[in-house]
Amino acid sequence: IKALSLLGFLALILSGCGKENLTALVPKGYGAEVSMDLIILTTVVMLVVFAVVMAIFIFVLIRFRKKKGQEDFIPKQVEGNHTLETVWTVIPILLLIIIAIPTVLATFDLADETEASDSINIDVTGYQFWWHFDYQGEDFQTSQDIYIPVGEKVYFNMLSSDVIHYFWVPSLSGKLDVNPENENTFYIEAYEEGVYWGKCAEFCGPSHSLMDFKVIVVSKEEYEQWVADMKNVDPDEEPESAVAVEGKELFQENNCMGCHAIGSSPVQTGPNLTNFGNRETLAGVEDLDKDTLVKWLLDPEEIKPGNKMTDNYPALNKEDAEKIAEYLLQLKHTDITSESAEN
Ligand code: CUA
Repeated sequence: IKALSLLGFLALILSGCGKENLTALVPKGYGAEVSMDLIILTTVVMLVVFAVVMAIFIFVLIRFRKKKGQEDFIPKQVEGNHTLETVWTVIPILLLIIIAIPTVLATFDLADETEASDSINIDVTGYQFWWHFDYQGEDFQTSQDIYIPVGEKVYFNMLSSDVIHYFWVPSLSGKLDVNPENENTFYIEAYEEGVYWGKCAEFCGPSHSLMDFKVIVVSKEEYEQWVADMKNVDPDEEPESAVAVEGKELFQENNCMGCHAIGSSPVQTGPNLTNFGNRETLAGVEDLDKDTLVKWLLDPEEIKPGNKMTDNYPALNKEDAEKIAEYLLQLKHTDITSESAEN
């Protein structure tokens, strides 16, 4: 029973405690499936080695135990045995070959950079502690949430603007370093529509563990609709509610636009806020609702320690923060949301 509850506990940890599709053990994309095959292969090899070693160990313990009436008995000592030495050298070499061949083949397979001319390319930039996504050839940018179509190879070209980050969507793909200078490319091919939780997997500062993002996999038609909507964002559009209009003015007066863009813009000091109201989460980790957003606007350091907003932040009162929150939450630039993926 102890072993079972330990297994259950481990399964809970590995499944990411309820975060959507945050497990490498239930692959839903090509890269994750290839990785899972390797995990199974190496685990089986490891278990066989463990079983054989334990069997020999237990046999020796029993066979050469001290028996009654054998005071000071020492079994026959053996020194040097060519057959044995050959066996325990050759077996590990064979095991390593069995593991190495599929691993190397998978590595080259997943590192495929031969993009078809019509494939989707997304430039990823890692920042402390958020993600910027620029859809090549489409002239728009997003942050935190990436939309991709199901069943297609989508290429990610990754660079960091500061320190080394690590791009990982456990259910969809293997991991890849996001370096400040050397661009790394890999692709994701998702088998099923849905929301997939992504993590930064390289320690990068105080909020490393909060540097989350989402990959939202939708049908091809929904993806095309989403792209069309994202290209048509009018950053100056007047909000419908009077409070949100006030919020928009405060947003401009407090110079939030100095760091955050709405719609296509080269500005990327802070996350691009296009379609912010449809985000899955606030700052990658908190449920997106008004109370949490106000809390964030009043004290971002409390939610994400070490983020840049804390340093450059105007002191807001609660009333103004609520108006700005109202404005930001109505920034919904498309009908395609994570719910489209779940239907
Ligand atoms: Cu970025 Cu850890």
